Amino acid sequence: MRVQLLSDLHLETEAFEPRPAPDADLLILAGDIDAGHGGLDLFADWPVPVVYIAGNHEFDQRDFDSAMAELRVRCDRLGFTMLERESLVHTHAGRRYRLLGTALWCDFDLLGAHDRARCMKAGAYFLDRVQCSTRDGLPFSAQQVRDEFTRCREWLGQQLSLGRRSSRWDETIVITHFAPSAKSADPRYGLQPASASFCSDCEDLMGRAGLWIHGHLHCRHDYVVAGTRVVCNARGHVDRGEADDYNPLRVLEI
Ligand SMILES: [Fe+2]
Ligand SMILES: [Fe+2]
Repeated sequence: MRVQLLSDLHLETEAFEPRPAPDADLLILAGDIDAGHGGLDLFADWPVPVVYIAGNHEFDQRDFDSAMAELRVRCDRLGFTMLERESLVHTHAGRRYRLLGTALWCDFDLLGAHDRARCMKAGAYFLDRVQCSTRDGLPFSAQQVRDEFTRCREWLGQQLSLGRRSSRWDETIVITHFAPSAKSADPRYGLQPASASFCSDCEDLMGRAGLWIHGHLHCRHDYVVAGTRVVCNARGHVDRGEADDYNPLRVLEI
């Protein structure tokens, strides 16, 4: 199966016209497509099935649960499959691919539990000034992000314990918005407290999926941990040079 992967298009500020990769069998949208949500409509009538995972920016200035519900309604209308702690077995050319999708979020423990408070403080700066989401009438805080990560991580761990392959699927693909390893940290900045708002160490889950796709970091990655190939093909912001070597037509074969 050949997968076109797009994420971090940030259509709320960026000008970008998506085009279908001519040889792709599936399109995966791994979050931060458009904080305004309307940009998802650019993928209407896409020639291959579309699977969508929400990114953090789809919750900007919104109530968390209302935004999730609105995204579901939009995806249903567009005929996309939205995955949030949900799985889908997608059959292509007689092979069954189990797709596991969740935003994942982060635990702020990337530098170790002893540095969690410092990392949460760095995360809170962004959450309070840029994302400005609410949940249950309260600001969507770093602690709430961490709690959401725990829910996503537990679900993913349970799903992956069922095996990379089984009688019901031939391969497993994980799709998250946030990154599952420090290896995905943006090389422009190195490892620092803010990195923990982007990556969490989920390497103990590697080996139980053939491919782990993520976004959120505005750079490209393609590496292997314990037999799991980790790929990020995020676009990012043109004026920061993040899209300089970006190929939106890149296709992954699995
Ligand atoms: Fe992004
Ligand atoms: Fe993001």
